[in-house]
Amino acid sequence: MTNKKYFWFLKVSSNLTFVADNVKVWKKQREMLTLRLNFKYFVKIKRMTMNKKTLLYFVLLVGFTFSSCLKEPKSPAPTGKTLSLPDVPYAYSSQIDIGRFGAPVIISNVNPENPDVTPDGATLGRVLFYDPALSLNNRVACASCHLQKNAFADGLAHSVGFEGKITPRNSMAINNPVLNRSLFWDSRATSATNLALQPAQNHVEMGMEDLDFLASKLSKIDYYPDLFVKAFGPGQITKENIGNALAQFLCSMTTMNSKFDKVKKNEANFTALEQLGSDIFNGSGKCRECHSGSNFMADDSPSGPYGGTTSSGLSVAGTANTGLDRYTVDEGRNNGSFRIPSLRNIAVTGPYMHDGRFKTLEDVIDFYSHDIQAHDDLDPKLKVNGVPIRFNFTELEKQALIAFLNTLTDEEYLTAEQYSSPFK
Ligand code: HEC
Ligand code: HEC
Repeated sequence: MTNKKYFWFLKVSSNLTFVADNVKVWKKQREMLTLRLNFKYFVKIKRMTMNKKTLLYFVLLVGFTFSSCLKEPKSPAPTGKTLSLPDVPYAYSSQIDIGRFGAPVIISNVNPENPDVTPDGATLGRVLFYDPALSLNNRVACASCHLQKNAFADGLAHSVGFEGKITPRNSMAINNPVLNRSLFWDSRATSATNLALQPAQNHVEMGMEDLDFLASKLSKIDYYPDLFVKAFGPGQITKENIGNALAQFLCSMTTMNSKFDKVKKNEANFTALEQLGSDIFNGSGKCRECHSGSNFMADDSPSGPYGGTTSSGLSVAGTANTGLDRYTVDEGRNNGSFRIPSLRNIAVTGPYMHDGRFKTLEDVIDFYSHDIQAHDDLDPKLKVNGVPIRFNFTELEKQALIAFLNTLTDEEYLTAEQYSSPFK
């Protein structure tokens, strides 16, 4: 090292030592000062008369209480957004007009396991549905995998849940769950109530295995005590009521205002293509034999074709094997049979089928047209002389079926404020 460089080296290093030493000194001085101040005030307080002391403690207490009142209410930690609810709750109800051709037919609850819906109960359910506090790591809400713009499906073949885990099946749309006796792709839930807390507990979806812990966690979030009091009365933050409120919200989610419904009420007309699609759907295409009733799903009533048990004693609960695969890949309900899902809002709920294998409705129609596999349990409706049926739809017929399916979209449902996130 040259002399000059050596000189600079010394200068820089001595400066550094100087700074470091000073930092130590400042730190020490600050400590001493705090100690001295503490001691000074300690002695002062000790010397005060009893009355003065009481007064001081009182002033401190009032000051402390006041300052904590002045603080903004803790914003909902998990979302970082503010909860914004209407002063008067929406008139949520489980009543649904399944009107058949002009005449309104109002039904309230086909499933005795479902709760009665009250405006305050469903409001609480709405908050819970959108709140990531329901997951163990505050990252996943029901709404993470159920997006309103997709009729509460999520546009992915498999959804991303707790800690990035991937769900084995495709997230389902939520269409009039109040009409369902069986839910999930394998019909394992028998009502909205029975379903509501399963996703929170599921280790892939939300990871909240201990529901008592969930109840105590929610009781510490500032907006919940009040919402629970309104919905259920005081002292009612329990896992049962969390499930009940979620089920109330689910049962209030009704979608019956698509073009199809308007045509039924003589408020709109099908185009010629949509009409052709409707004819195929209800006739030669056999679609209506499974996607039936006002919700375009299985008739799973106890006496319905997909209710109860098969002749071999297997429980069906609204499921069928559509011959997606020659051999069973996913058991589903039994041996590759899956829920016959509602087709309402189907244009916005892709990708399709329990594993999200089809990206578009064209793909689904192509499958029914010429690709049904000869599975042992293939539903008899999709067989002719014991082999898979080949509809071989023409291009026009395919387009017509799709045009008809597109009339099942209820635009209002996809944006309705009462089903949207209350966290703004
Ligand atoms: C990580 C993604 C994810 C989260 C979070 C999630 N779900 Fe789901 N949801 C799914 C998947 C996947 C299915 C289909 C599962 C199956 O059938 O096995 C499903 C199915 C459903 C269904 C059935 C619809 C039908 O017609 O049968 C409802 C209702 C539902 N979820 C509500 C909820 C509620 C309420 C929450 C919050 C407590 C929630 N989900 C959280 C992914 C999710
Ligand atoms: C034997 C009963 C049956 C018949 C007949 C039937 N389907 Fe299905 N459909 C099902 C079942 C079961 C599923 C779910 C299959 C799965 O995911 O494994 C399904 C799924 C669908 C889906 C995807 C739904 C979603 O949310 O992913 C569409 C679209 C559909 N069917 C349309 C049709 C059309 C159009 C026809 C007539 C050409 C038809 N179906 C005939 C039982 C049937």
